[in-house]
Amino acid sequence: MASKSHIQIAPSVLAADFAKLGQQVREATEAGADLIHVDVMDGHFVPNISFGEEVVDAVRRSTHLPLNIHLMIEEPDGLLPSFMKAPTDQIIVHAEACTHLHRTVFHVKEEGKQVGVGINPGTPISAIEEVLPFLDIVLVLTVNPGFGGQSFIPAALNKVERLRKVIEEKSYSAQIEVDGGVKADRTAQDSVRCGASILVAGTAIFNQEETVALSIGRMRSCIQGIKG
Ligand code: DX5
Ligand code: ZN
Repeated sequence: MASKSHIQIAPSVLAADFAKLGQQVREATEAGADLIHVDVMDGHFVPNISFGEEVVDAVRRSTHLPLNIHLMIEEPDGLLPSFMKAPTDQIIVHAEACTHLHRTVFHVKEEGKQVGVGINPGTPISAIEEVLPFLDIVLVLTVNPGFGGQSFIPAALNKVERLRKVIEEKSYSAQIEVDGGVKADRTAQDSVRCGASILVAGTAIFNQEETVALSIGRMRSCIQGIKG
């Protein structure tokens, strides 16, 4: 596990230019990203389709960084082997999408991969209480998932704070990851302050306004010195 003091930045390729995906992933890698976040959407669990196994494979070939694979898939068990390919892959499933969440979590763990569970803005922490001791990551959605470029939901910060408290009190090892609307501003700073140690950012990193390197640099300096 990364040390708590190092905040990990995970660019989300959902916002990348897919016509030059490999190049964009390499730019993010060279600019000091810690993880590459990939959003797999099935058009059922979320109202959008993104990409599947082949595109995730292409991302994996373009970086040495661990992939932080966010599966927005209804009942993902059957598809898990398509995404658990590298030793460093981190697999995140959704609490709302898994009827047998405990089984799904252990399916991933038994493959030796890091496992995370995502919770939507409307889902309480209690939905993951029973699996929390076994998790490497809790992904707190700070938007309703399905699309990039949405606004950060400030109320999610309170959930991050409460979750951090539970994790600390019980001495669990899960890291908290925030995803959705995170920019190089108060959204990132407050997330870190409340206990997040992995920040996903899509449109804040892949956009027409500045280079990937500049965006990652701005994100890094905006959270510098912020204590969790
Ligand atoms: C939302 C996805 C996010 C998305 C974030 O459904 O899970 O990972 O790419 O994009 P931004 O940072 O643009 O909100
Ligand atoms: Zn995501």
